[in-house]
Amino acid sequence: MMDKRYVKPYVNFNLNSAKVFFSVKDDLPSNTKILLDTMGLLKSTNSSIKDIKKKISLDQGLTAFILKVSNSPFYGPKQDISTLTHAISYLGYSNLRTILMSYFTKNLLSKIKDKNLQIALWKHSLFNAFIAQSIAESKNISDPEEAYISGLLHDIGKIVMFKNDENRFISTIKLVNSKNLDPIEAEHSIFNFSHLEIGYILSVNWNFSENIKYALLFHHSYEKVKNESKLPAIISLTNKLSYIEEFSIYKSDPKTIDYSEELKFLDISKTFINESLEDIENTIEDYIRIYG
Ligand SMILES: [Fe+2]
Ligand SMILES: [Fe+2]
Repeated sequence: MMDKRYVKPYVNFNLNSAKVFFSVKDDLPSNTKILLDTMGLLKSTNSSIKDIKKKISLDQGLTAFILKVSNSPFYGPKQDISTLTHAISYLGYSNLRTILMSYFTKNLLSKIKDKNLQIALWKHSLFNAFIAQSIAESKNISDPEEAYISGLLHDIGKIVMFKNDENRFISTIKLVNSKNLDPIEAEHSIFNFSHLEIGYILSVNWNFSENIKYALLFHHSYEKVKNESKLPAIISLTNKLSYIEEFSIYKSDPKTIDYSEELKFLDISKTFINESLEDIENTIEDYIRIYG
């Protein structure tokens, strides 16, 4: 459990309400356990390709998907990859972990009936994941894989809220757009908690690293934990950029979005940001083609 001193004084988190909502309504995709077990194996230094193959083979859909991804232009193999063993050794453990988390997020998103919102959230996740990874990689300020996973999952709480109580979640979007309310405030006014608490509870249940837990809980208030981790600031930045670039479920006026504090804190130039944004739309479209 997170140290209370990080939670209480800063933001009005309501972990208890979030826990109640979640335990009553929780129905995650059926292959969640296989995916998380595989993630665990991929993190352990003792697991062999054989162990990982055995675990992934339990899920036919996942097996077929990994073969499809490993043969995609994204990973560009010189020869066809037709076995799971070959795919695992070709992709490597780190790529495989990010692929699994993308697959998982996509699966979770497919439970949202509203197609437009489903795609908007998927693009929002991918935008944050790619830009966060590129910042972490080039600036050497955070682990790129953790940055990718945090970008992908930072709003996972929204997916759960949406999936379990679509009407109330749509009301929060309407509130944000009509009254120009901060999304966290809007969620609190309707649910009594926000996607931050849900994301945090999931990250604890799934044994994610401290950095990822921080990113999920504090990506709207990174300054509260800036001595503990840089990842929340990275996600705060990518999230704001996604509003400006219109990879968001909210309508916002770019002129009102200020990310200069994040740039200063992370020591990133505007030029670097512009370069990172250059090809992002195509990258996301390519990814969407593979993941469906
Ligand atoms: Fe968020
Ligand atoms: Fe977000």
